Amino acid sequence: MKLPRAKQTGMVAVEQAIAQRRTVRSYQSKPLSLEQLAQLMWAAQGITGKSGFKRAAPSAGALYPMDLYVVADGACVEDLEAGVYHYEPAGHMLSPISDKSLLRDVARASLSQMWMATAPVNLLITAEYRRIEGKYGSRGERYAMIEAGHIGQNIFLQAEALGLKAGILGAFQDGEINRVLDLPHTHEPLIIMPVGYG
Ligand SMILES: Cc1cc2nc3c(=O)[nH]c(=O)nc-3n(C[C@H](O)[C@H](O)[C@H](O)COP(=O)(O)O)c2cc1C
Repeated sequence: MKLPRAKQTGMVAVEQAIAQRRTVRSYQSKPLSLEQLAQLMWAAQGITGKSGFKRAAPSAGALYPMDLYVVADGACVEDLEAGVYHYEPAGHMLSPISDKSLLRDVARASLSQMWMATAPVNLLITAEYRRIEGKYGSRGERYAMIEAGHIGQNIFLQAEALGLKAGILGAFQDGEINRVLDLPHTHEPLIIMPVGYG
């Protein structure tokens, strides 16, 4: 599914977004628009370079070992069916990988932090270390984790600029997240970010 083109201008100054950013743990049931979701995807992992492969967040050696998934239940995002989607930076597209409503299952796999299921979407950042360890050896794991932090902050600040709020979770059972979402076992979950209206 091709996403709406992302904007490169906005009404909120980056300083304001930084000042306002907080981890929010309660969300309104109001759905996101597909434009808002597309903008969040772009801020996280969108292609921004003229060469067509460099992305919004930095990556050691430009090796991009990260993947971005969206978990959305029915009516959580306008014009998007419930399910789990993989973001494809090259085409600025979402590929469906499941049609199940799994927000509550993800929350249960996150030490039952059920507040995260009140958000219309949870964004999951995963790393595939083998994409970076060929060049950097065991240090690649560290680089991927640093990269996840950059992506997470981009999501936080883009959410603020869209009038949304985000949260961040690192407390979850990795294997359970992969099982619930049926992800490749090489995609290590690092950060989950609920996003919605605060
Ligand atoms: C790596 C990481 C993991 C975190 N994991 C959780 C979590 O599992 N649950 C949670 O409620 N908050 C989690 N937080 C959010 C922190 O509690 C929060 O960032 C901190 O209290 C500072 O508040 P602020 O983000 O609103 O400025 C996490 C933050 C980071 C950076």
